[in-house]
Amino acid sequence: MVMKYDLGTGDDKNWIVAESSFSKNLLGKAEAIMSLGNGYMGLRSATEEPYVGEVRNLFVAGTFNKSDNLEVSELPNAADVTRMDIRIDGERLDVSSSRTVDYIRALNLKVAELTRSFVWTTSSGKDVALKFRRFVSLDNLHVIGMKMELEALTEAIELSVESGVNAQVSNSGSQHFYEGEKRIYDKKYVEMVTKTVESEIDFMFHTVHHAKVGEIELNQPFMRMDRRIINLTYKCSVTKGQKFSLEKITTVHTSRDQSFAGMILQEMRDQALSTLKACAAEGYDSLLQKHAIAWERKVWSLYKLNIESDNEFDMLAARFALYHLTVMAPAHDERMGIAAKGLSGEGYQGHSFWDTEMFILPFFIYSNPEVARSLLTYRYLGLEGARKKAESNGYEGAMYPWEAAWPSDGEMAQEWGRVDIVTGKQTKIWTGFIEQHITADVAFAVWQYYMVTADQAFMDMYGYEIIFDTARFWASRLEWNDNKQQYCINDVIGPDEYKEHVDNNAFTNYFAHFNMELAMKYYKELKESNPEVFQKLNETLKLDQAITEWHDRIDKIYLPQPSDKDLVVPQDDTYLTKEIIDLTKYKNQSHVNTIFEDYSLEQLSDIQVSKQADLMILFYWLEDKFSKEVKIANYNYYEPKTIHDSSLSLSTHSILANDLNDQPLAYQLFKQACEIDLGPEMKSSDLGMHTASIGGIWQVIVMGFAGMRMMHGELRMNPKLPAHWNKLEFMVNWKGQRLEVVITKDQLLVTAMDRKPVKLEVYGTEYRFDHMLTVCLAEGDN
Ligand code: BGC
Repeated sequence: MVMKYDLGTGDDKNWIVAESSFSKNLLGKAEAIMSLGNGYMGLRSATEEPYVGEVRNLFVAGTFNKSDNLEVSELPNAADVTRMDIRIDGERLDVSSSRTVDYIRALNLKVAELTRSFVWTTSSGKDVALKFRRFVSLDNLHVIGMKMELEALTEAIELSVESGVNAQVSNSGSQHFYEGEKRIYDKKYVEMVTKTVESEIDFMFHTVHHAKVGEIELNQPFMRMDRRIINLTYKCSVTKGQKFSLEKITTVHTSRDQSFAGMILQEMRDQALSTLKACAAEGYDSLLQKHAIAWERKVWSLYKLNIESDNEFDMLAARFALYHLTVMAPAHDERMGIAAKGLSGEGYQGHSFWDTEMFILPFFIYSNPEVARSLLTYRYLGLEGARKKAESNGYEGAMYPWEAAWPSDGEMAQEWGRVDIVTGKQTKIWTGFIEQHITADVAFAVWQYYMVTADQAFMDMYGYEIIFDTARFWASRLEWNDNKQQYCINDVIGPDEYKEHVDNNAFTNYFAHFNMELAMKYYKELKESNPEVFQKLNETLKLDQAITEWHDRIDKIYLPQPSDKDLVVPQDDTYLTKEIIDLTKYKNQSHVNTIFEDYSLEQLSDIQVSKQADLMILFYWLEDKFSKEVKIANYNYYEPKTIHDSSLSLSTHSILANDLNDQPLAYQLFKQACEIDLGPEMKSSDLGMHTASIGGIWQVIVMGFAGMRMMHGELRMNPKLPAHWNKLEFMVNWKGQRLEVVITKDQLLVTAMDRKPVKLEVYGTEYRFDHMLTVCLAEGDN
């Protein structure tokens, strides 16, 4: 398979992600990176005709289910509505044969439509041109539109197309649904209603086809129902030069839909069916047009991101990031979070990790605060699960799950993972037990949101409660160490997951400290500014008692310091004592995780090798706690030991490299981050998109190259454009106002769209303006 990013010309320039040939050995990448969605649902882009090795996925956000007691709750793979069995003169369409020419599959990011076209020659030598199109509507979140067009180029053919709703699917073998009910109304409207086996969520699929050969409508399909399947087959002769077309409109609804609240199943079905009928009456082209308008309005004209680079790919990669940030986010429902693979694959079971708060949320906080608010409200609702987790571990307050599904569920991480190459047993996954920094990450994200948006109502309703209850957790989690005469946090996994059961992971300790400090600040502020809210929280969370503990502990928390000798901060208590080995082979690996071919996870714990950025994230987010010299010393120490086996790593290292004035390296790491999904490695996206890395790409552009940061509630911008870039344009929301930013080699221009006062620091100088600010960037600034 060859990925092509330069096929767009004219208005489509840098908007097209395409593959120009088909390989049945490499299906996963295209399925994931070209996946479609709207935050309500995500549709993996498997081809219409099936191939061995494909993964046909349709996920609806928030519909978690447990297939059996030994499994964790996951997003179930819903019925497939995209498969079509196409036969020409009885021969099944198969583009993997050499008899296919002009094969192009393209995702147009601008209108979020996937198209595929080619000419296929049957075994008897007849040429047939085929074109397929599809979209998942951003205008009506329940709608999937598909269209197939065929032309018999050289001779007449006999055509048969079988299509419908196919629930003979699973999540890698785990079955989440009951058989369900099937019905076809008027030989036309297909209905399948199924229910998840444990969470009892009703899924309703409705599908209708509109088939035509020339001007003749085909409305007497052969109807088939079988186990978990309803299909209609349209058969016809197509004469030479004649065209056949098939439109297929599908709607997907579930009983989790907020608009269905309080309804009985029959009412939901009726409403879903009438939605389908209304959509069918409109037809593919009209539905697509509305969808394209929604993309323009809700995405492209809102975010206005533009990069002028001599590498065209940079612009495409940025758009690709915005595209996936849109399709991954369940912006419609605050009971749902973003999954680590979005809605594009079965990896990580649809669960939310710290990926959201630290990698994805910054984009939404600055670019679309309403969505950020919804994602943080999900964490507020998740307090229920977090309190359960704290209690069952013997702690107080809220201990957020490392992997979250439905908010009330609590911890959803699996317990057993990859094979241990030494023992042959399954490795225990400890993250759900001891990767605990997530709790502080959530509190940190709430603070970021508040500082950037000034959304006081959110804080009063949700934010303070999260910050207080997470601080209560940390206070109960700290362990007194007699030798150190300090509080420690023992037996954790930090961001670097190649070090398990470590004491005092620096990132964890500093973030826990930050979390408690924040709670103390807000305790004081809230008591004075809003006694009513304070009192309510004081009653439920016993804040007066908690504050005494916080006061007592805050200055006694052990915060690892740079060594006098070389300024290196120990990542944890033992990291620096471990063996140093030659990592060249793994630093230059063509795909991640090759180190597991040589070492078990337990063995990695004894080597100075890091899976991903750890201290660097600390330097990035709590930058004022460390001097530049310390950052440089540690970057130089840890970068060579970090093998970036997690996709979360490169973007942080790029931002740090930029902060530390190594622009060529920052740009190189940016390219590598973009290539996590778009690059030549064909298997890496099989389980789905790397959503944190996608959020990281935006961060590299805005926090890295534009040098934007919020520090102590103030905005700063120290632009350093890469040598390849002539211009960068983007927007951010700052305290409720939209700022439009244009950066060139020698100038920074910021426009305050509401003409409200803004304070901005640029390279150490403070500027105040209420409409436009122009700052000349001196040579060497960027
Ligand atoms: C990374 C974690 C991340 C998770 C989900 C793991 O491989 O080490 O930091 O949260 O993937 O993306």
